[in-house]
Amino acid sequence: MNNHPIIAPSILSANFAKLGDEVNEVISAGCEWIHFDVMDNHYVPNLTFGPMICEALRKHGVTAAIDVHLMVEPVDHMIEQFAQAGASNISFHPEASKHIHRSLSLIKQHECLAGLVLNPGTPISYVEENIELLDFVLIMSVNPGFGGQAFIPSSIDKIKRIRALAEQHNKPIRISVDGGVKLNNIKQVADAGADTFVMGSAVFDAADRAKVVKEALSILD
Ligand code: DX5
Ligand code: ZN
Repeated sequence: MNNHPIIAPSILSANFAKLGDEVNEVISAGCEWIHFDVMDNHYVPNLTFGPMICEALRKHGVTAAIDVHLMVEPVDHMIEQFAQAGASNISFHPEASKHIHRSLSLIKQHECLAGLVLNPGTPISYVEENIELLDFVLIMSVNPGFGGQAFIPSSIDKIKRIRALAEQHNKPIRISVDGGVKLNNIKQVADAGADTFVMGSAVFDAADRAKVVKEALSILD
Protein backbone atom coordinates (compact mmCIF):
# COMPACT_ATOMS: atom_id res chain seq x y z
CA MET A 1 0.00 0.00 0.00
CA ASN A 2 1.60 3.31 -1.08
CA ASN A 3 -0.59 5.62 1.02
CA HIS A 4 -1.03 5.41 4.77
CA PRO A 5 -4.50 4.10 5.80
CA ILE A 6 -7.25 6.66 6.44
CA ILE A 7 -10.57 6.01 8.15
CA ALA A 8 -13.24 8.39 6.80
CA PRO A 9 -16.35 8.20 8.99
CA SER A 10 -19.55 9.10 7.14
CA ILE A 11 -21.66 11.64 9.05
CA LEU A 12 -24.72 10.07 7.40
CA SER A 13 -24.92 7.83 10.48
CA ALA A 14 -24.03 10.54 13.03
CA ASN A 15 -26.44 12.15 15.50
CA PHE A 16 -27.24 15.42 13.70
CA ALA A 17 -28.65 16.94 16.87
CA LYS A 18 -25.03 17.23 18.06
CA LEU A 19 -23.02 16.94 14.86
CA GLY A 20 -20.11 19.13 15.95
CA ASP A 21 -19.43 16.99 19.01
CA GLU A 22 -19.82 13.76 16.98
CA VAL A 23 -17.28 14.96 14.40
CA ASN A 24 -14.78 16.06 17.07
CA GLU A 25 -15.17 12.66 18.76
CA VAL A 26 -14.16 10.69 15.68
CA ILE A 27 -11.35 13.09 14.81
CA SER A 28 -9.94 12.65 18.33
CA ALA A 29 -10.19 8.90 17.80
CA GLY A 30 -7.84 9.17 14.81
CA CYS A 31 -10.02 9.80 11.73
CA GLU A 32 -8.26 12.06 9.19
CA TRP A 33 -11.14 12.57 6.73
CA ILE A 34 -14.78 13.36 7.55
CA HIS A 35 -17.00 11.84 4.83
CA PHE A 36 -20.02 13.89 3.71
CA ASP A 37 -22.71 11.91 1.89
CA VAL A 38 -24.53 14.62 -0.07
CA MET A 39 -27.79 13.37 -1.59
CA ASP A 40 -30.35 15.35 -3.62
CA ASN A 41 -33.33 12.93 -3.93
CA HIS A 42 -32.74 13.07 -7.70
CA TYR A 43 -29.56 11.18 -8.43
CA VAL A 44 -30.28 8.92 -5.43
CA PRO A 45 -33.65 8.30 -3.68
CA ASN A 46 -32.65 10.12 -0.49
CA LEU A 47 -32.07 13.70 0.69
CA THR A 48 -29.36 14.73 3.14
CA PHE A 49 -27.60 18.09 3.49
CA GLY A 50 -25.92 20.95 1.60
CA PRO A 51 -22.82 23.17 1.81
CA MET A 52 -24.08 24.99 4.93
CA ILE A 53 -23.24 21.96 7.07
CA CYS A 54 -19.68 22.06 5.75
CA GLU A 55 -19.52 25.79 6.52
CA ALA A 56 -20.98 25.24 10.00
CA LEU A 57 -18.35 22.63 10.89
CA ARG A 58 -15.57 24.92 9.67
CA LYS A 59 -17.01 27.76 11.81
CA HIS A 60 -17.21 25.24 14.69
CA GLY A 61 -13.40 24.89 14.33
CA VAL A 62 -13.15 21.60 12.44
CA THR A 63 -9.86 21.64 10.52
CA ALA A 64 -9.81 17.98 9.45
CA ALA A 65 -10.27 17.15 5.76
CA ILE A 66 -13.93 17.24 4.70
CA ASP A 67 -14.39 14.56 2.05
CA VAL A 68 -17.51 15.47 0.05
CA HIS A 69 -19.20 12.62 -1.87
CA LEU A 70 -21.70 14.26 -4.26
CA MET A 71 -24.65 12.02 -5.04
CA VAL A 72 -26.30 14.86 -6.94
CA GLU A 73 -27.11 15.76 -10.54
CA PRO A 74 -25.94 18.11 -11.99
CA VAL A 75 -22.66 18.42 -10.12
CA ASP A 76 -20.80 21.59 -11.19
CA HIS A 77 -22.77 24.11 -9.10
CA MET A 78 -22.39 21.90 -6.02
CA ILE A 79 -18.65 21.61 -6.65
CA GLU A 80 -18.41 25.40 -6.51
CA GLN A 81 -20.65 25.67 -3.42
CA PHE A 82 -18.88 22.98 -1.38
CA ALA A 83 -15.42 24.25 -2.33
CA GLN A 84 -16.41 27.72 -1.11
CA ALA A 85 -17.90 26.19 2.05
CA GLY A 86 -14.56 24.60 2.97
CA ALA A 87 -14.51 21.14 1.38
CA SER A 88 -11.07 19.48 1.11
CA ASN A 89 -11.96 16.64 -1.30
CA ILE A 90 -14.85 16.48 -3.77
CA SER A 91 -15.94 13.36 -5.63
CA PHE A 92 -18.89 12.82 -7.98
CA HIS A 93 -20.53 10.07 -9.98
CA PRO A 94 -19.48 10.29 -13.68
CA GLU A 95 -23.03 9.44 -14.76
CA ALA A 96 -24.17 12.69 -13.07
CA SER A 97 -21.93 15.05 -15.09
CA LYS A 98 -22.36 15.94 -18.76
CA HIS A 99 -18.65 16.87 -18.96
CA ILE A 100 -16.56 14.73 -16.61
CA HIS A 101 -13.19 16.26 -17.52
CA ARG A 102 -14.57 19.77 -17.01
CA SER A 103 -16.11 18.85 -13.63
CA LEU A 104 -12.85 17.27 -12.42
CA SER A 105 -10.91 20.35 -13.63
CA LEU A 106 -13.34 22.57 -11.71
CA ILE A 107 -12.59 20.68 -8.47
CA LYS A 108 -8.86 21.11 -9.01
CA GLN A 109 -9.26 24.80 -9.89
CA HIS A 110 -10.71 25.15 -6.37
CA GLU A 111 -7.60 23.37 -4.98
CA CYS A 112 -9.59 20.41 -3.68
CA LEU A 113 -8.61 16.77 -4.15
CA ALA A 114 -10.62 15.37 -7.09
CA GLY A 115 -12.27 11.95 -7.18
CA LEU A 116 -14.63 9.88 -9.33
CA VAL A 117 -17.18 7.62 -7.65
CA LEU A 118 -17.85 4.21 -9.20
CA ASN A 119 -21.18 2.51 -8.48
CA PRO A 120 -21.20 -1.31 -8.46
CA GLY A 121 -22.36 -1.21 -12.10
CA THR A 122 -20.02 1.56 -13.32
CA PRO A 123 -17.08 0.39 -15.46
CA ILE A 124 -13.52 1.25 -14.44
CA SER A 125 -12.93 2.71 -17.91
CA TYR A 126 -14.09 6.05 -16.48
CA VAL A 127 -11.05 5.97 -14.18
CA GLU A 128 -8.62 5.11 -16.99
CA GLU A 129 -9.94 7.91 -19.21
CA ASN A 130 -9.52 10.56 -16.47
CA ILE A 131 -6.63 9.17 -14.40
CA GLU A 132 -4.38 12.20 -15.02
CA LEU A 133 -6.86 14.41 -13.15
CA LEU A 134 -7.66 12.00 -10.31
CA ASP A 135 -6.32 12.26 -6.78
CA PHE A 136 -8.52 9.38 -5.61
CA VAL A 137 -11.22 6.94 -6.65
CA LEU A 138 -14.24 6.22 -4.44
CA ILE A 139 -15.49 2.69 -5.03
CA MET A 140 -19.09 2.09 -3.92
CA SER A 141 -19.38 -1.32 -2.30
CA VAL A 142 -23.13 -0.75 -1.97
CA ASN A 143 -25.62 1.00 -4.24
CA PRO A 144 -25.67 4.66 -3.19
CA GLY A 145 -28.39 6.29 -1.10
CA PHE A 146 -28.38 4.74 2.35
CA GLY A 147 -26.06 3.76 5.19
CA GLY A 148 -26.11 0.39 6.91
CA GLN A 149 -26.26 -1.75 3.74
CA ALA A 150 -24.42 -5.05 3.16
CA PHE A 151 -21.00 -5.02 1.45
CA ILE A 152 -21.24 -6.27 -2.17
CA PRO A 153 -18.56 -9.04 -2.44
CA SER A 154 -17.72 -8.36 -6.11
CA SER A 155 -16.29 -5.01 -4.93
CA ILE A 156 -13.10 -6.82 -3.89
CA ASP A 157 -12.25 -7.74 -7.48
CA LYS A 158 -13.07 -4.17 -8.62
CA ILE A 159 -10.66 -2.73 -6.01
CA LYS A 160 -7.92 -5.06 -7.31
CA ARG A 161 -8.57 -4.00 -10.93
CA ILE A 162 -8.43 -0.30 -10.07
CA ARG A 163 -5.25 -0.68 -8.02
CA ALA A 164 -3.69 -2.53 -10.99
CA LEU A 165 -4.81 0.27 -13.32
CA ALA A 166 -3.28 2.94 -11.05
CA GLU A 167 0.02 1.03 -10.90
CA GLN A 168 -0.01 0.52 -14.67
CA HIS A 169 -0.26 4.31 -15.05
CA ASN A 170 2.25 4.84 -12.23
CA LYS A 171 -0.32 6.94 -10.35
CA PRO A 172 -0.31 6.34 -6.53
CA ILE A 173 -3.90 7.53 -6.26
CA ARG A 174 -5.87 6.85 -3.11
CA ILE A 175 -8.54 4.15 -3.38
CA SER A 176 -11.42 4.77 -1.00
CA VAL A 177 -14.17 2.19 -0.42
CA ASP A 178 -17.65 3.23 0.67
CA GLY A 179 -20.44 1.01 1.91
CA GLY A 180 -20.68 -1.89 4.32
CA VAL A 181 -17.07 -1.60 5.49
CA LYS A 182 -16.76 -3.16 8.94
CA LEU A 183 -14.10 -4.50 11.27
CA ASN A 184 -14.75 -8.01 9.92
CA ASN A 185 -14.02 -7.15 6.27
CA ILE A 186 -11.66 -4.13 6.35
CA LYS A 187 -8.51 -6.28 6.14
CA GLN A 188 -9.83 -8.01 2.99
CA VAL A 189 -10.67 -4.59 1.51
CA ALA A 190 -7.18 -3.30 2.29
CA ASP A 191 -5.46 -6.43 0.96
CA ALA A 192 -7.31 -5.88 -2.35
CA GLY A 193 -5.61 -2.46 -2.66
CA ALA A 194 -7.76 0.09 -0.81
CA ASP A 195 -6.09 2.60 1.53
CA THR A 196 -9.07 4.75 2.55
CA PHE A 197 -12.15 3.40 4.29
CA VAL A 198 -15.53 5.12 4.57
CA MET A 199 -17.27 3.77 7.67
CA GLY A 200 -20.67 5.14 8.63
CA SER A 201 -22.77 2.79 10.75
CA ALA A 202 -19.76 0.72 11.87
CA VAL A 203 -18.45 3.80 13.69
CA PHE A 204 -21.45 5.95 14.62
CA ASP A 205 -23.75 3.07 15.63
CA ALA A 206 -21.06 1.79 18.03
CA ALA A 207 -21.29 2.53 21.76
CA ASP A 208 -17.53 3.20 21.82
CA ARG A 209 -16.64 4.94 18.52
CA ALA A 210 -13.00 5.47 19.46
CA LYS A 211 -12.59 1.74 20.11
CA VAL A 212 -13.88 0.88 16.62
CA VAL A 213 -11.61 3.45 14.93
CA LYS A 214 -8.55 2.36 16.90
CA GLU A 215 -9.30 -1.33 16.21
CA ALA A 216 -9.69 -0.59 12.47
CA LEU A 217 -6.38 1.29 12.38
CA SER A 218 -4.59 -1.50 14.26
CA ILE A 219 -5.94 -4.10 11.79
CA LEU A 220 -4.56 -1.94 8.96
CA ASP A 221 -1.22 -1.30 10.63
C1 DX5 B 1 -24.27 5.38 0.51
C2 DX5 B 1 -23.31 6.02 1.48
C3 DX5 B 1 -22.93 4.94 2.49
C4 DX5 B 1 -22.32 5.42 3.74
C5 DX5 B 1 -21.53 4.32 4.41
O1 DX5 B 1 -24.70 6.29 -0.43
O2 DX5 B 1 -22.19 6.54 0.80
O3 DX5 B 1 -22.12 4.02 1.81
O4 DX5 B 1 -21.59 6.50 3.63
O5 DX5 B 1 -22.46 3.63 5.12
P1 DX5 B 1 -22.13 2.35 5.99
O6 DX5 B 1 -20.68 2.43 6.43
O7 DX5 B 1 -23.08 2.45 7.14
O8 DX5 B 1 -22.39 1.20 5.08
ZN1 ZN C 1 -20.27 8.12 0.56
